[in-house]
Amino acid sequence: RRLISFSTSQHARTEHEIGLVNDLLMQSVASNHPVMHRAANYLFSPAARGKQFRPRLVLTIGRLAGASAVDRQTLAAITEIIHSASLIHDDVIDEADTRRSMACLHKVEDCTRLAVLAGDFLLARASRMLASLRTPRVVSMLSETLEHLTLGECIQMGVIDNMPTYLEKTFYKTASLLANASRAAVVLAESKACKTASGASMDENCASPSFKLPFALSKDEHSGSVLAESFESENEEAAYMYGKHVGISFQLIDDVLDYTQSSAIVGKPSEGADLRQGLATAPVLFAAQEHKNRDLWDAIRRRFGAIGDVELALNSVKNSKGVEQSRDLAAWHAEEALKAARRITAVSSGDSSVEDERTALEYAAMQLLKR
Ligand code: FPP
Ligand code: MG
Ligand code: MG
Repeated sequence: RRLISFSTSQHARTEHEIGLVNDLLMQSVASNHPVMHRAANYLFSPAARGKQFRPRLVLTIGRLAGASAVDRQTLAAITEIIHSASLIHDDVIDEADTRRSMACLHKVEDCTRLAVLAGDFLLARASRMLASLRTPRVVSMLSETLEHLTLGECIQMGVIDNMPTYLEKTFYKTASLLANASRAAVVLAESKACKTASGASMDENCASPSFKLPFALSKDEHSGSVLAESFESENEEAAYMYGKHVGISFQLIDDVLDYTQSSAIVGKPSEGADLRQGLATAPVLFAAQEHKNRDLWDAIRRRFGAIGDVELALNSVKNSKGVEQSRDLAAWHAEEALKAARRITAVSSGDSSVEDERTALEYAAMQLLKR
């Protein structure tokens, strides 16, 4: 399914570039060590790849904002490597057997320690690629996302019994990578103009002092250390907001699917799988708000650990507007993403098709809702 292309020409451009990103990615994670070699080949094989939504998004924003082909493809590969590393670790934490209908790496290797190391190895290679972009602010943004991924997992291990905490966790775990990678694509585009003859970036010195957003989002949206750092251009802020809202919308739909879709369709165990792992997500939190059911709140707070808790939660969600309200919230975030996409100023490269990239961003935000 096409998530991030709306026209044939835009699709062809993205397919061509994603092929180059995959080549770059394979070169970047190549290793003489047999286990790391095997892990990289397994994880990035065409069968295991998945939709590659994140790198496609980076390429599209990068083209719209005027990032060079090398910069945007490198950033796209980094984004995909970080995502893959986080999934390897996630599968270990979740004790998962399958992902994308294939055995998880720790199952293939029959060793969780090797899988953890393979994730670390990928992060190390992603760090080296980040350094190669010679743009310190981009290193900082993607590093912050690594922190957020870890914090998101930590929050999820505790009790999530209210929407603000759920949204904060969701931002950290899912939206931060999309937000910061989108933002980084713009930063790379804008710092291009500041490159010295030797090729070294001076983005810190070239930052425009004219645009500073003193940022304070309410706790209902999310909090996070990113707010301490101001955006340095309107495009940077708009790209960040696009990625953030798309990420939250994406996760809300994912969480709805856990209640509505069978495992055969999603390629990993589903149908209340989150509940069985102790996780309260948007549908059950909305249901608990609606029913004001003390037993359900208790079940949420003990992470559905007592006999009958999962069934109580499933029934409560079925007999509530939880799924509908979660979808509505996802639609609200998709609309916000749409508005942000419209605020990104295209850099004219003499190529009129650059506006196609914006339409593709708008299309992607809406397609995610249709899963
Ligand atoms: C998938 O969640 C997990 C993530 C998106 C993030 C996982 C992050 C970590 C394990 C922290 C370590 C981070 C790095 C960068 C190594 P899920 O379990 O809800 O989704 P799933 O159903 O796809 O497994
Ligand atoms: Mg998981
Ligand atoms: Mg998990």
